[in-house]
Amino acid sequence: MTGIRKGTLIAGDGIGPEVVSATVRVLEATGVVIEWEAEVAGAMAIALEGTPLPQKTLDSIRTNGLALKGPTTTPIGSGHASINVALRKTLDLYANVRPVKSMPGVKSRYDHVDLVIVRENTEDLYSGLEHIVVPGVVESIKVITEKASTRIAKFAFAYARENGRKRITAVHKANIMKLSDGLFLDCCARVAADYPEIKYDDIIVDNCCMQLVLDPTRFDMLLLENLYGDIVSDLCAGLVGGLGLAPGANIGERGATFEAVHGSAPDIAGMNLANPIALILSGAMLLDYIGENAAGTRVRNAVSSLLMEGKHLPHDLGGSASTSEVAEAIATRLSS
Ligand code: NAI
Ligand code: MG
Repeated sequence: MTGIRKGTLIAGDGIGPEVVSATVRVLEATGVVIEWEAEVAGAMAIALEGTPLPQKTLDSIRTNGLALKGPTTTPIGSGHASINVALRKTLDLYANVRPVKSMPGVKSRYDHVDLVIVRENTEDLYSGLEHIVVPGVVESIKVITEKASTRIAKFAFAYARENGRKRITAVHKANIMKLSDGLFLDCCARVAADYPEIKYDDIIVDNCCMQLVLDPTRFDMLLLENLYGDIVSDLCAGLVGGLGLAPGANIGERGATFEAVHGSAPDIAGMNLANPIALILSGAMLLDYIGENAAGTRVRNAVSSLLMEGKHLPHDLGGSASTSEVAEAIATRLSS
């Protein structure tokens, strides 16, 4: 690649600015140069620009094809719609990839968990189509299309092939939602037929949650619609040490944004307490995405070695290191 890579940097709300600057610090320490263009989104954008998702922010991500994003706060029950959903839909970032991996030195219920969640990111109940039929009766519309289901299934199988994964399990509730989840399942099965070397099966979502809690090592890759993917992501994060360690990417045909699974954590915002590792590992995925795989691996190794040593653990992992201290300790490992 020639020239300097540019990326859009969205600090976000709550703990966003703290974990984003921690991640930028770590990415800088790899020696990979990314020129960041700072843009706003979320509650901060409302305060500064009067809208949660300014056109300028969208344009910047479109032009750069790359963004690192802190979480943004979405009001509950009323107020503006989620800008995360809007971003993913507007930029057609249709594949949400969330690796779930046991980390050395982290106390959790299981060792050797290594699975990847692939979540459809643009439709389902997140279509935002809700209306009041009559007072006291509301309808939320679940949209599942053949096009989006086939596209996400193709993405998942291609990912499996590229990354040496052996098995994909589609997660659904097609026993109840026979049409919508039935269509999703049909599309997955059709795509699976083109990948004979990858084992394919399916499981009903409630049973899947139970099996995950009993033994997550039973799974390799999970392929889910939007809502199930959202819920199962947090469940899986809890299996390997919590949201402070769970990274993610939103990938489309023309670009990608990288953000942790967690939200803006208002309960600990502004206190330098948040665990930045989830976003730092999302940063490692960003490095892989731009072809800097060696740097991505170095970041993951630096995180592992920090966790294994156990000296600079963040609060959620039982330590007392601040957000910036964790970042500094990882950056130091990278530069030495
Ligand atoms: P949350 O993920 O922000 O927090 C859940 C719990 O995990 C809290 O106790 C929090 O302190 C803890 N936690 C989260 N990240 C952490 C970290 N890095 N280090 C240490 N502890 C961490 O979920 P919640 O409270 O349901 O949502 C808060 C806000 O975030 C809402 O407005 C929600 O809409 C938004 N949100 C935004 C997302 C995004 O921008 N991608 C994703 C999820 C939620
Ligand atoms: Mg979520």
